[in-house]
Amino acid sequence: MDEVEKALYAHVQSRFPFVTEAASHLLDAGGKRFRPLLVLLAAEAGEHPGVDDVVTAACVVEITHVGSLYHDDVMDEADLRRGSESANARWDNLVAILTGDFLFAKSSELTAQLGADAVRIQAETFSRLVEGQILETVEPGPDADPLEHYLEVVAGKTGSLIATSARYGARFGGASPEVEQALAAYGEIVGSAFQLSDDIIDVASDSVESGKTPGTDLREGVPTLPVLMAQASTSPEDARLLELLAGPLTDDALHAEALALLRAHPAMDRARAYVVDRATEAKALLGVLPDGPVRAALEAFADVVATRSS
Ligand code: IPE
Ligand code: IPE
Ligand code: MG
Ligand code: MG
Repeated sequence: MDEVEKALYAHVQSRFPFVTEAASHLLDAGGKRFRPLLVLLAAEAGEHPGVDDVVTAACVVEITHVGSLYHDDVMDEADLRRGSESANARWDNLVAILTGDFLFAKSSELTAQLGADAVRIQAETFSRLVEGQILETVEPGPDADPLEHYLEVVAGKTGSLIATSARYGARFGGASPEVEQALAAYGEIVGSAFQLSDDIIDVASDSVESGKTPGTDLREGVPTLPVLMAQASTSPEDARLLELLAGPLTDDALHAEALALLRAHPAMDRARAYVVDRATEAKALLGVLPDGPVRAALEAFADVVATRSS
């Protein structure tokens, strides 16, 4: 991870100091480096986890991710990211969008070092991520199930890149095609679970824990798992919450009221249990790996995703 950290900065340099500054802004702010960690971990399932291509692949997924955060904060009008000012707050939407584009270009350039197949995988992943982000802004059709719509958004915007992180790790670490396939499927489920837990954290945690402004999804009117589960309630006790959830929550007092009611609602525990089930599903796919420290670490990784609070 130390090697990845150094390489990340090297890969976002521009000959224009301002572009380098804007592109390094969210790298400097920190972040969990969850995706590159998964690349390195999945590489341990292969025969040569220490090769340079594994580190390059780890940089590709993190730089793609960071680019998507620049754009996401514009979409969500978010001011806080990784405990720092978002790029749109620090500068403006234009700088944030173009810096995101710059980062995507840099990650593509880097992917080319890994060969044509890696470029194709990266492009397909990025299409799915963007489709997920776009789908989030579109209401499900009148006959569509809102939970299914949401799960499709989540798989696209987050599952796709985390699946590719696991796939790249296995592939460049020298695992068999069978293991690569299984780890990609594992990553897809773990990645979706990661977004579901992020959506629970958006309701449950404060900004000291998450580095983001709580209640952003409610304010933006994005229905996430706890909201969808609360909306399934027919109990008269929930009338006020359901009324609030039906309307816009841009007003500070209404937003605070809805957030407090949702935090205390049993839907929160139901949502958490749903995520734990997804982690169990993901772990079942690790049967292709021999018993040992790599499999145990990937199992623990899925557990942490399901139960994290930051
Ligand atoms: C944030 O991702 C966006 C989501 C897909 C939930 P992370 O939670 O991995 O953000 P950082 O990289 O740690 O800041
Ligand atoms: C982020 O989704 C997904 C991507 C960046 C592709 P969210 O909007 O839920 O993530 P946060 O909560 O801002 O990190
Ligand atoms: Mg967001
Ligand atoms: Mg978003």
